[in-house]
This record gives sequence, C-alpha cells and structure tokens, in this order.
Amino acid sequence: MERTFLDEAVARMLARIDATLNQPGQGFPHYADPKGGQWTRSPAGDWTGGFWCGLLWLAALRTGDAKYRDQAHAWALRLRPRVTSKSVFKGFLFWYGAELGCELFADPDARDLSIEGTRGLMAMYSHEAKLIPLGTEAEEASDVGASEANIDALPGTIGLLLSYGVVLGSDEMARQHLRQHIALCVRDDGSVCQSATFDPANGKLVRRYTHKGIHENSTWARAQAWGMLGLAQALAWRETEFRDDAVRVADWWVEHLPRDQVAFWDFDDPAIPNTSRDTSATAIAAAALLKLARLIPERSARYRATAQASVEQLVSQYLTPVSQDDKREPGILTEGCFNKRINVGTAHELIWGDYFLFESLLVLDGTLVSERV
Ligand code: GLY
Repeated sequence: MERTFLDEAVARMLARIDATLNQPGQGFPHYADPKGGQWTRSPAGDWTGGFWCGLLWLAALRTGDAKYRDQAHAWALRLRPRVTSKSVFKGFLFWYGAELGCELFADPDARDLSIEGTRGLMAMYSHEAKLIPLGTEAEEASDVGASEANIDALPGTIGLLLSYGVVLGSDEMARQHLRQHIALCVRDDGSVCQSATFDPANGKLVRRYTHKGIHENSTWARAQAWGMLGLAQALAWRETEFRDDAVRVADWWVEHLPRDQVAFWDFDDPAIPNTSRDTSATAIAAAALLKLARLIPERSARYRATAQASVEQLVSQYLTPVSQDDKREPGILTEGCFNKRINVGTAHELIWGDYFLFESLLVLDGTLVSERV
C-alpha cells in the first residue's frame, strides 16, 4: 500500500480525534451522525468506552504527542468503576482502555487497571458452565444473565485472561471460555451465530439466536468479525489448539465478503445490496486478518490481501474527505450499523469502527505490530 495513502488517511483520522477531544460534552464518545459529527455519549462507557481510550493510546504511539497519552490515561481511569460491572463486555473496556496503555507505554496505572478489570472478569467465571456468561448488566437489549453467551464476549476478554495467566492464574479460564464459545456459536461451516442460551449447570447448548442480527440463523457481520478477533488474540498468545477454528472462521469471512470488500450488516439480509453496510464489522475483520496473516503463515498472503482491500475501500469510499465541497468533518468513518433491529445508529460513525480502522492503518504503515493489541 502506498505510504502517501496511509499517511493521508491517518492524518484525517487524527483530525477527527482532535475534533472529538475539542467537542463539548460529558461521557465517552459512542456513536455519531456523520452530518454534524456530534457524538452521542455514554456516561459510564457502556461496552464501547475503551475504544475511545484505545484510539488515544494509538494516536500517542503514532505521533509521540504527550497530549494523546495524557488524555488516554485520564479517560482510562474513568473506567475504574466498571471493574465490578456484571457484564462480560468489560473485557472490551479494560483491554482497549487499559491494557493498551500498559503494553504500548508501560503505564503503571493502566497496568493496575487492567489487572483489576481482569480480576473483575474472573469473578464472573462459571466453573459449572466453563465460561463467563453475558451477566445481568450486559449492554444488550434482552436475554442477558447467567445462561446467555455472545461471541462478542471473546475479544479483549481472551487477551486479558491470557496476558495475566501467569500473574492471576487465568489462562485456563481463557481456554475454557473460548472452547465453550466455539461450541455454542461457531457453526460447522465456519460461520458464526451471535448468541446462545446454555444450561448453567453444565454449559450445554440449549438454543442459538441473535441479539443484533436479522434472524436467529443468520450471520450478523459483527458476530463473524468478533469471532475472528477473539481467535486471533488466542493465537497471538500461542494457543495453537485454536488454529483450525481461526482458519475456518476467517476463511468464511473472506469467501463471503461482497466484491467491494465491505460487509453488509448481516450476510443473510435478503435485501442485499439494498440494505445497510457495517463499516465497523469490516474494520474489526481487517484488524483480525492482519493479525492472523502473521500467525498463520500458509494463509498470510490471502488474509493480508483481503485486509488491505477492505481498508482501501473503507478509506476511499467511507472515510469523510478533506474537501471544500463536503460539509462533513474530515476523518469520520461513515456507514457503521450499530443496531438495525431497534433502528439505532444504522448509518453512523461508531467509536469501535474508528478504533479498528485506525489500528489497521497503523499496522499497515509499520507503526504497530498487530499482535501486540
Ligand atoms: N455487543 C457488541 C456489538 O454490538 O458489536
């Protein structure tokens, strides 16, 4: 990929990070209407607050500017009350919000917070079902609690449990949590179902369904992408037993992407191509493929080429330009689909979409080794 293309895309995204820092408002940026660029915020970070900190940690890495590091640190500390949240999605908060600061800058406060978040996850582990369930406070519309699981419970959570395996003894929990989610959510053909109900006494599957996809048998784009990312995080920690699962889940994505390399919100929406895209799912998958390209040598060329093609399309077709004819702020990743079932943020900028596009750009420009995050 051309250096000038990458530099220009990074510059646009940094401009948007600066604009977000300067935008008045309390709480973590959550999703925004590209027209005005105004963020809807979450006071306590919902499941997405860590991605805002993660963007700032990465901006600090790319630029060396202490402003971003100070902001990342300050925003991360605001996540501390969430250590005890009864939501498995706090894995997202403390991996992207805190562990990145520890890994990239050896920030001691970020490390403490990351360990606290990991302990908070461990406290939710069910020894009977051998996984961490969604929990009663999981940020979903319905069907949460001790007998529900989502594939979105892998990224971050797996990274934290494996990172602190030696310190906290959490590595076997990570393996079990991942094995169970593969059994509950990954179909034989490598496609991923978002959600499952299980028997809390033994973890056995009761039914598969979805919180955010089009129907219970569909492949919601972010389900596939989160699955790829969780598996990539396990392989980054040399958990080679998950290699074949990672290949079949990632291959499914590569083989089902539309020709223009940007996913629709659900692979089974009968209205395709006249329906919503999900640029955030595409960005998550690109970031996962860039990790897997290094971890699975025999798929390296295929996964890297797909990730590059997706990133090129996201930047050239969906990232708002610097242009006097375009009234929108530059550097907004448009066409993310938050929750089409309840019609929230269906053609919006999503903070995690920004994060994963930015991560991918920094991997492609050589700033970041993909498996570190
Ligand atoms: N719960 C994670 C997502 O909506 O992608």
